[in-house]
Amino acid sequence: MARSPTSKNRVKPFTPTRQWWKSATVYQIYPISFFDSNGDGVGDLNGITAKLDYLKGLGVDVIWLSPIYKSPLADMGYDISDYNTIDERYGTLEDWARLLHETHTRGMKLIMDLVVNHTSDEHDWFVESRSSKDVKANPKRDWYIWKPPRYDEQGNRIPPNNWKSIFQGPAWEYDEATEEYYLHLFVTKQPDLNWENPDVREAVWKLMRFWLDRGCDGFRMDVINHISKVEGLPDAEVIIPTLPYQPGNAFYINGPKVHDYIKEMNERVLSHYKNIMTVGEAPITHNPATLAEYVYPKNKELDMVFQFELVDIDAAGGKEAESPILWKPWRLQDMKDIVNKWQSFGREDGFWNSVFIENHDNSRSVSRFGDDSPEWRSLSAKLLCISQITLSGTLYVYQGQEIGMKNAPKSWGLEEYKDCATINFWNQTLEKRMKMSGKPAEEIDMSDIMEGCQRKARDHGRTPIQWDSSPHSGFTTGTPWMRVNDDDWNVASQINDSDSVYSFWKHALEVRKQNESLIYGDFKLLFPDHPTVFAYTRTLEGGTSALVVMNFSTEPVSINEEVKRMKGARLLLSNYPVKAAGDQAWEVPTVLRGYEGRVYLRGECCGADACGCKGIKSQIPDW
Ligand code: GLC
Ligand code: CA
Repeated sequence: MARSPTSKNRVKPFTPTRQWWKSATVYQIYPISFFDSNGDGVGDLNGITAKLDYLKGLGVDVIWLSPIYKSPLADMGYDISDYNTIDERYGTLEDWARLLHETHTRGMKLIMDLVVNHTSDEHDWFVESRSSKDVKANPKRDWYIWKPPRYDEQGNRIPPNNWKSIFQGPAWEYDEATEEYYLHLFVTKQPDLNWENPDVREAVWKLMRFWLDRGCDGFRMDVINHISKVEGLPDAEVIIPTLPYQPGNAFYINGPKVHDYIKEMNERVLSHYKNIMTVGEAPITHNPATLAEYVYPKNKELDMVFQFELVDIDAAGGKEAESPILWKPWRLQDMKDIVNKWQSFGREDGFWNSVFIENHDNSRSVSRFGDDSPEWRSLSAKLLCISQITLSGTLYVYQGQEIGMKNAPKSWGLEEYKDCATINFWNQTLEKRMKMSGKPAEEIDMSDIMEGCQRKARDHGRTPIQWDSSPHSGFTTGTPWMRVNDDDWNVASQINDSDSVYSFWKHALEVRKQNESLIYGDFKLLFPDHPTVFAYTRTLEGGTSALVVMNFSTEPVSINEEVKRMKGARLLLSNYPVKAAGDQAWEVPTVLRGYEGRVYLRGECCGADACGCKGIKSQIPDW
């Protein structure tokens, strides 16, 4: 297991330097599904502005907006046709300025999604690029990645290499007009930019300044570890023999020049703006040493990255799978190992984590890692909240997670799924099975793929937010762009209920803010081999320490022996009601009930203003 060389034999806890963005709670908004202010069925900027008090009330510090730029929505806005314009579905630049102003007025910040590995094929740059092959007359030709065709032994035209698009099919599209192929790692309508060309980079720096100069507080950078491709774009190894196209990951993930580009971005743009934050999306890499290169302060690149090892935990075929929709059961043991690995990595050198368990590319955590049946939904959603707010790193909460939104029901047919990744994977698999069996579509068994969709399709994270009990759960007065989940959980019914998932999140975020050990403390995994208990401590230099114990199962579990070492702590948080002061509140219970989670604090006060430990002294020297 990769570890920072310095953290291996550490005896004393190490506390990282404090930064505003490290202790921040970031709330991700997927605008189209957040709140529709004008009844057209599509969430919009004015809808977000209308809900700012709700977000402030929850304890949000930073809002991250998924893309709202002009886009044909081939990939729900991750295909941008104009970086300097708000798509009219969402509003106008004036609406954005008002949203920013109202966000700042409430003491919150706003970061934007920067999608610059690719543009839309409808972006002017690409329209120009595809207009002619003559680079002299048409310098934009070189802004994208064009290659002449190859021909097989029978003389059939084939793409320049065998790479598979991440969203299925070949990663190349033939352009009849200029008789060349262009590269698109995602859907056909998302041509990859050629970062080798300095004019492309200059254009990216310019569009970043456009938003920063208007007051945005930083960026989440879409698939930023894909921007540099290996020279010559060689064929990928055949690892999925049933497919004609193969994952080309090895040739573009964390590619040869990616760090040069990001250093340049930092020098030319980021370093000129104070108090901004940056987080790079870095899928497919599970090696902390590789990702840490983007994050170590000495490298002057980004503040942090999203790594996906935890959410890849139930991917059949791992990170090179045909599609992340393919599901396999996950084990708590793996979750513990992954969390331990990243929490302990590179702290002395300034590595900093991003903590998340949901986003717009993942299904709902309560359905996936908890139990969304009526009996356990609330408890397990709260347990997952504990598992998030007690980890070191900047915390990200995805819209709806705070009310325990769950996956769409199994009764929904494929027609309710809107995501291109879902539909393409379904179609490709159906086609493949028809070809292999010679049977018509109606006779093909697709139940395994349907199960994958029900568990893991990105669509589950994209159903509109359930605000109240009115039609379409109050998301819109019109017809929603995507069906609203059928259950009756919603914000209105939770906000004044002290026992709700919402109230738990609100309280838990306060507890995190008041206890720096939860944000900055050193991580130590306890009972590493226990099959259902996930427990750890988070200790600050000076001795203040939090203990987290969580039962990831419906069955009660005895932790009798282990508990003897844990006396003399104050209960900070529990997802079961604690009857009266003193009732188990000062002692770790010897039995954890189904999905029970608790957080305790002990040790001397660290002295920081934000520390809520209030000088409590430990009676026992070690957990
Ligand atoms: C990122 C986005 C995802 C999008 C893809 C291509 O992974 O989060 O939604 O489909 O990049 O832009
Ligand atoms: Ca609208």
